[in-house]
Amino acid sequence: MSKKRVFSGIQPTGQIHLGNYLGAVKNWVDSQDVYENIFCVVNSHAITTPQDPKELREKTFELAGMLLACGIDVGKSSLFVQSEIDAHPSLAWILDCNIAMGEMNRMTQFKDKSLKNPKNVNVGLFNYPALMAADILLYQADGVPVGEDQKQHLELARNVAIKFNRDFGTCFKIPEPMIPEVGARVMGLDDPQSKMSKSHKGANHAIFLLDSPDVILKKFKKATTDSLDTIVFDTERKGLYNLLGIYEVLTQKSRESIEAEFVGKGYGALKLAVAEVVIETLRPIREEYMRLSAQKGYIAQILKESADKVRPIAQATYQRAKELVGLI
Ligand code: AMP
Ligand code: TRP
Repeated sequence: MSKKRVFSGIQPTGQIHLGNYLGAVKNWVDSQDVYENIFCVVNSHAITTPQDPKELREKTFELAGMLLACGIDVGKSSLFVQSEIDAHPSLAWILDCNIAMGEMNRMTQFKDKSLKNPKNVNVGLFNYPALMAADILLYQADGVPVGEDQKQHLELARNVAIKFNRDFGTCFKIPEPMIPEVGARVMGLDDPQSKMSKSHKGANHAIFLLDSPDVILKKFKKATTDSLDTIVFDTERKGLYNLLGIYEVLTQKSRESIEAEFVGKGYGALKLAVAEVVIETLRPIREEYMRLSAQKGYIAQILKESADKVRPIAQATYQRAKELVGLI
């Protein structure tokens, strides 16, 4: 039986953080043998918010290097840059013409982003989910490994695919969301009410994958908790729950054994233990990134070869969609 295909993407904005890693990238890496994998640096999505052109070019490249350092293996997975394949925005247009305004209007990420940054509300930001649907549907992906914040966008991608297939004839596979049980929503260390995000400005908000051990330890020591003194998994105690979740996913221990480990111990001990396991997880990634970042030609070659490999899949789907709607 042939392997199921997964597709996922990540934006080259800000710095990649522990939320991105636990919610998405770790799962891409861990299941590379199980699936046929296509991963994408979604630079066209990045320009829905203002970007410095030179910096965007650099960040696109850096993120590709980071993903390789995290363990994306090009023997098993394709890794390409979205704007290298023209079928993405082209299919997004056809999808646009099949998405009801009302459905797009429901997207909470657009509402959040436009409230946070009222000066940057452009049509591309509104239309972001259509481009994301195109990304996924072009490759006939069976599954999409993402963090929880992408659930609503995936639902829209499924809905437009179902509607299109029904109205015009079978064109797209209906993709399943693949959201991890633990790690799908890592919260900010300074503010456990909000998800860890690249755009948050707080100095102790996020752990970046390139943070040094000292910085990681410092950030965890300052993490917001509460004034109670038991260490238990309790969703109401957001700061503590977040720390325990990070520990759970990285140690693979059961909740019972983690609670037993910290009986009679305080937050200081927990923070130290979480910091240690994060430091040891990120150490080889940081070292590999340092090695790879000196090899720009190698990264460029991987991105090009991957784009050349997957382009025919995207083109075939786009061609079929064009035919079905009467554009050719
Ligand atoms: P982005 O940085 O928005 O391009 O997100 C890339 C991937 O990381 C997506 O699959 C997101 O769902 C995931 N992600 C982003 N932030 C978090 C977070 N705080 N916790 C878990 N997953 C996240
Ligand atoms: N919207 C996703 C995010 O911000 C990134 C993304 C773009 C994506 N296209 C995708 C994720 C296709 C999965 C599949 O996290």
